[in-house]
Amino acid sequence: MKHFKSDYFTYIDDQLHCEKVNLSQLTEEFGTPLFVYSKNFFIDRFKELDDAFKLINHKIYFASKANFNLSVIKTFYEQGSGVDVNSAGEFYRAIKAGVNPKDILLTGVGKTDEEIALGLEKGVFVIKAESLEEVYVINDIAEELNIIAPLAIRVNPDVDAQTHPYISTGLAENKFGIDSVYAYDMFVECSKLSNIELVGIDMHIGSQITKIEPFIEATLKMAELFKKIKATGIPLKHFDIGGGIGVLYNDETPFSPKELAEKLIPIFMQLDAQIMFEPGRFLTANGGVLLTNVLYTKTNSVGKNFIVVDSSMTELLRPSLYKSYHHVQPIENIDNIDFEADIVGPVCETGDYIAKQREITMVGRGDKLAIMSAGAYGMAMSSNYNGRRRPAEILVDGSEYKVIRSRETFRHLIFDEEALL
Ligand SMILES: Cc1ncc(COP(=O)(O)O)c(C=O)c1O
Repeated sequence: MKHFKSDYFTYIDDQLHCEKVNLSQLTEEFGTPLFVYSKNFFIDRFKELDDAFKLINHKIYFASKANFNLSVIKTFYEQGSGVDVNSAGEFYRAIKAGVNPKDILLTGVGKTDEEIALGLEKGVFVIKAESLEEVYVINDIAEELNIIAPLAIRVNPDVDAQTHPYISTGLAENKFGIDSVYAYDMFVECSKLSNIELVGIDMHIGSQITKIEPFIEATLKMAELFKKIKATGIPLKHFDIGGGIGVLYNDETPFSPKELAEKLIPIFMQLDAQIMFEPGRFLTANGGVLLTNVLYTKTNSVGKNFIVVDSSMTELLRPSLYKSYHHVQPIENIDNIDFEADIVGPVCETGDYIAKQREITMVGRGDKLAIMSAGAYGMAMSSNYNGRRRPAEILVDGSEYKVIRSRETFRHLIFDEEALL
């Protein structure tokens, strides 16, 4: 079978390693399911993106929704990243990871008053608004707090990101941002408010974008708007193009940061602004694997094979939610014939699967598999459905590794319910 190509997850003596750490040993020590991340993958991708745009004034804000483990956030923060948070909970995580609020962007299509007040009181760098009504609310809360809110407005550029409809966010029909048709008037209207400082314009057109054209089209549209707004005397300082850079899961041919920079830098050069990026998936997806144990195999009367593993939609929701492809391969390079099977989890849902009709080396009970590209939107989307305890997470750095979150215990499942019986 074909193995997923990665410099960070390679077979050494037929054993899959993360950097220099043998994954088989990790499963013996920590059990399965188990998330394992490569710290150097994270650092290298951050540097790759940062270097690509070194000619211009820019800053990367890691979108912590992709992987919100404190040690992962800290890894990026130590590289000079800021953090994009989408809720009070993500804000809390960033603070606990040691991030200064001044390095945080507060995003979200439906922020509560509590979340807005928290962000303003703690002094986030920018708070983003996605409707006129929200701007009024932010202004009122800022007035009560006697604060001037540093505000960016997220504009929906109405561009087709050509990605899965559930992760496409920049079409006029999507719930995100302000319709680009109203955006200019809205900036002018908002600039009159007493407790708002309009600092930036923001967009995020979708996720797992593998074609460069939508980025260019949206950036050009936003750049025109940015210039028009600035011409009115509103001193915008930031131009935020969001996240969305796509990665290789299967056979995609994503563009590189360098290619993106070649196309976008000439546009950015015309703007007197700091350029902001909010990547999540690009920085983390291929830096993580989910290790799983084969529990059972079976074949039905029409010859369909099933591999039942101990990971499921509760650890990796993406296949069930978006029909996403994740490469799956044995962590020991087993010399066996390939067969076609559905790789499924233990959760009581027909939609609970990891891979469908997949060519894979014939494996049996006790064999361990690596579900590749699980570093983004894996653990972050996990749940306790079916009474499942979330897996542990391990961060590998060269030949060293450490637990960065322990496996959940039964205690986590009931929180305070027992005391409330
Ligand atoms: C506003 C915003 N910024 C950044 C991101 C990160 O996107 P990605 O992981 O595709 O880079 C998202 C993801 O949904 C988002 O909604």
